[in-house]
Amino acid sequence: MLILGIETSCDETAVGIVEDGRRLRANAIASQSALHAAHGGVVPELASRQHIRDMQPTLLRALTDAGVTLDDVDAVAVTHGPGLAGALISGVNTAKSLSLTLGVPLIGVNHLEGHIYAAWLASGSTGSDGPAPAEEPGFPLACLVASGGHTDLILMEGHGDYRLVGRTRDDAAGEAFDKAARVLGLGFPGGPEIQKAAESLTTFAEDDFEHTELTTLASAPLPRAWMRDTLDFSFSGVKTALLHRAQDVGLYPPTDLPQPDTERKVAALAAEFQESLVDVMTAKLLAMAERYHARGLILGGGVTANARLRQRILSESPLPAVIPPPVLCTDNGAMIAAGAYYQQQRGEIADLSLDVDPSLPFGRPD
Ligand code: KG4
Ligand code: ZN
Repeated sequence: MLILGIETSCDETAVGIVEDGRRLRANAIASQSALHAAHGGVVPELASRQHIRDMQPTLLRALTDAGVTLDDVDAVAVTHGPGLAGALISGVNTAKSLSLTLGVPLIGVNHLEGHIYAAWLASGSTGSDGPAPAEEPGFPLACLVASGGHTDLILMEGHGDYRLVGRTRDDAAGEAFDKAARVLGLGFPGGPEIQKAAESLTTFAEDDFEHTELTTLASAPLPRAWMRDTLDFSFSGVKTALLHRAQDVGLYPPTDLPQPDTERKVAALAAEFQESLVDVMTAKLLAMAERYHARGLILGGGVTANARLRQRILSESPLPAVIPPPVLCTDNGAMIAAGAYYQQQRGEIADLSLDVDPSLPFGRPD
């Protein structure tokens, strides 16, 4: 069964084509990050208009990459929430038109469920037909979905069966990365920029920079919001601590005047900020897995493209972890098509009354 999945919830216009829920046939993505970079964040109105421009070429590219025509498509899936209303509408309207004209089922997918199902592609995309996470390691699965809008711990007890056991009480991890990057004068989206700056820390030889009070202060620990009695997260404290530290070491507000050791200070602060978020996300995901007797872990969402987070989970988890390649962690249409395959098996088919829901909930509260 060939499903075409459309994703336009934020700033990626994406069309994926997936066979039988697991085999990746195409994953065409038009990113708008260059458009929004000048504004330091996603501008909803610009995003909506750009989705309209990018939809048709992205759809055609996906069909070409998969070597199929629209007549080969058995169902059309689309993200209908959560996300930006004006952005979601382009995807939903395109999907409705395709479903109507092709005479195939329409499937509305929750964006967060899509992020989890990227793990089904990760294990099936090589064509080796390795076992799906449902069989190996098997349910229940402890899932961390960390993106620009969410940081959720979800216990997946079966297909379509989700318990929301932890979430952020303020900023999402991706949002915190994006804001931190802005404070440090790095680009947008902030996550990859913070990662790059943090990785550059090792390139500074000891005698390449001056050991001053300020460079030492830049490397000092930032707080971790452990909130030990809960699996919830809070990232606004460390974000504020980073801002104060950047002020204290002379990085903020930014100045055009040359400052000693600016790059070294930025690298040190970026590394410490990244470590603070990675420490908490790693510890809480592992604690959740233990508490709920999970058989394995799944990582999904743009933040889980983070190299340090992936490395920490792989080295510290006593359980097997399915971590999709970075391109399947950030927003894409293939994950929507993968989730839709299991949804249609449960008979969850939409009709042309499908509407966008910017705050579509996911998972039953614990
Ligand atoms: O899932 P996603 O592509 O879109 C949303 O659903 O929001 O996630 C985007 C978020 C952005 O905040 C971005 O900074 C973050 O994911 N991100 C990263 C990395 N790549 C993307 N955060 C940390 N490290 C990365 N390598
Ligand atoms: Zn996402």
